[in-house]
Amino acid sequence: MFKQEKIDRLTGVIDKYCHQEGSLMTILQRAQEIFNYLPEEALSMIGKKLKIPLSKIYGVVTFYSAFHLTPHGKYSIIACRGTGCQVKGSKKILHTIKETIGINEGETREDLMFSLDTVSCLGACALAPVVVINKDYFGKMTPEKVKTIFGQYEK
Ligand code: FES
Repeated sequence: MFKQEKIDRLTGVIDKYCHQEGSLMTILQRAQEIFNYLPEEALSMIGKKLKIPLSKIYGVVTFYSAFHLTPHGKYSIIACRGTGCQVKGSKKILHTIKETIGINEGETREDLMFSLDTVSCLGACALAPVVVINKDYFGKMTPEKVKTIFGQYEK
């Protein structure tokens, strides 16, 4: 999607939600879906329309770890490092993911395909070890499964 297309989509989102009370979070989430992160230009468009100071918007964005101020990968990977997953081998899973996609936790690959983060529990301990790619949960992971799944995303 070209930049102007993204800006037009964001304008549509802002127009749709700006009259609703407490719509900032919804607009920020939609903006991040459009851009894959929250560029300054998008934040100032939102601030102007909602009449919210940019400093306050940055305050919200930096408070929630789900928001990103730098370009994020098309596929956002979250690997669980919680105790439930650790006892089922999550360290090996994380190691295999890093090896397979070539980045460490907290990083985004140069081609903007993948970002990798870890959390202390994904709320699906029965499926340990768990990895989430965008909104898809992958449970009972093994290093072999990692290679198969990521091989499909690379195509
Ligand atoms: S500890 Fe990994 S999902 Fe809960």
